[in-house]
Amino acid sequence: MYVISRFFYSKDKKSLNQISNSETSSVGDARRARLASLDAKMTPPKVRTTRFLLKNNFVAGIPKQVDRFSKFSPSPLSMKQFIDFGSANACEKTSFVFLRQELPVRLANIMKEIDFLPDKLLGTPSLRLLTSWYSQSLLELIDFLEKDPDDKDTLVNIRNRHNNVVPTMAQGVVEYKEAFGVDPVTNQNVQYFLDRFYMSRISTRMLMNQHTLIFDGSVNPAHPKHIGSIDPTCDVVEVIKAKIPGQPIQIVYVPSHLYHMLFELFKNAMRATVEMHETSTTLPLIKVRVSLGTEDLTIKMSDRGGGVPLRKIERLFSYMYSTAPSPVRVDNGRNAPLAGFGYGLPISRLYAKYFQGDLQLYSMEGYGTSAVIYLKALSSESVERLPVFNKSALRHYQSTTEADDWCMPSKDPKKLGRYETSG
Ligand SMILES: Nc1ncnc2c1ncn2[C@@H]1O[C@H](COP(=O)(O)OP(=O)(O)OP(=O)(O)O)[C@@H](O)[C@H]1O
Ligand SMILES: [Mg+2]
Repeated sequence: MYVISRFFYSKDKKSLNQISNSETSSVGDARRARLASLDAKMTPPKVRTTRFLLKNNFVAGIPKQVDRFSKFSPSPLSMKQFIDFGSANACEKTSFVFLRQELPVRLANIMKEIDFLPDKLLGTPSLRLLTSWYSQSLLELIDFLEKDPDDKDTLVNIRNRHNNVVPTMAQGVVEYKEAFGVDPVTNQNVQYFLDRFYMSRISTRMLMNQHTLIFDGSVNPAHPKHIGSIDPTCDVVEVIKAKIPGQPIQIVYVPSHLYHMLFELFKNAMRATVEMHETSTTLPLIKVRVSLGTEDLTIKMSDRGGGVPLRKIERLFSYMYSTAPSPVRVDNGRNAPLAGFGYGLPISRLYAKYFQGDLQLYSMEGYGTSAVIYLKALSSESVERLPVFNKSALRHYQSTTEADDWCMPSKDPKKLGRYETSG
């Protein structure tokens, strides 16, 4: 099912990872120089030809560039580093120097994984389009390496090109599903890939947004204290817009990410509540509780919408087993609505995980559901969670159908009675 060709990954990436991680605090020319010298010293890993790029939309030089940049490990930034980039003595050049290495690295790492998707999925029209965007953007970013720090058009163009990545990928999955159905192994692989792919996209958009917003020379008039898309005093209660009396509860966070998660959870809770109480004249309240501890900021949203059986909970986060009836077709419209793909929960969980948080559902079938968002209370612990393509990632794509190591209950009850003899 998954074509795995001989692939040997260079061990050097690990050491490079350590170097880049330890140096993120002082991103700059010194780091770049060391990375460059390491690049030169490293023996190129023996890699297979980059399949999808060759087959679908060959752009000269792309496989070579993917190999070149995927040798580096992405460097996760902490909330503090994001803030420092935008502080009073922020240096546009430092940010630019970081970006011009980091963006191609993040892109190339995920492009390596795109290559391990099933051929039949890569061959769908949606995936062909999507992979062409990635190839084009990587080339433009490499050109951007040579440009001067004032150039913002490249980043804006790339960001706009990728506006519809999520619905386009979702559409590709639907096309695949319609043609070939779903099996547990494909579901598992696609789930693993999409969580990483969408996370990578959240992160590259965050980097591009921060750079363009901070250095465009203007202050957001509605939110003068914001640093790019980050609010250093993000009032969680205010975002929930609940009438909760008491003190504001603040953390350093990206309000648009928080808004996205809460919007999706409210939508689900309201729908379940309305469907459960269709015939009654009053609806039970949806309750939101926010608690700030020393480590976590926790938001719990509880509804009385009838809940979901435990067996189905994992499935609610699946991209392939979405319960959504019919997806909205994407026809190039900007910011096409995502509603209908059943991506509310999985994408919201990614936003929570992006800065080391999580999103979990606890349900009592017959009563209701509590959805809990966990965020880091301290900005020093809010560090980007980024996928890296390495041997362990590769192993995930190599899984094949193996017998389960837990007994499966048979569908028909076993005939245990020894008196039940056929007559
Ligand atoms: N609070 C809840 N109570 C009961 N069922 C829920 C609740 N939240 C989610 N679900 C179930 O989980 C499914 C998946 O939710 P998710 O938000 O991921 O997708 P969706 O709501 O179907 O579509 P979308 O959010 O993309 O418009 C829902 O269709 C619903 O069946
Ligand atoms: Mg939803």
